Amino acid sequence: MTTRVEIINDFLAINVKPGATIQDVVEASGSALPFGCRDGQCGTCAVEIVQGMEFLSPKTDKEFKVLKEICFGTCTPNTRLSCQMKIDKANGVVRIKY
Ligand code: FES
Repeated sequence: MTTRVEIINDFLAINVKPGATIQDVVEASGSALPFGCRDGQCGTCAVEIVQGMEFLSPKTDKEFKVLKEICFGTCTPNTRLSCQMKIDKANGVVRIKY
């Protein structure tokens, strides 16, 4: 049981099991999606979830705090930090744009 993660900018797709982090997906797929701190503090890894938010882990308090600091009103409810998200459910499709 997997969920398909597509990284639109890089024309990449990978099937992953629930529990995998988006950071794992990026590293396994060869995506150029940038990371900085990898700890939910810098905002470098902010992305837009085009489809499949319901298959991802919910935003953490840390993620809410950093997104509020970096967005200056430009983020949408679908803006997430890649280093903080995990695949939460199987049998879905998550499409990510950065
Ligand atoms: S890499 Fe710094 S917040 Fe994700």
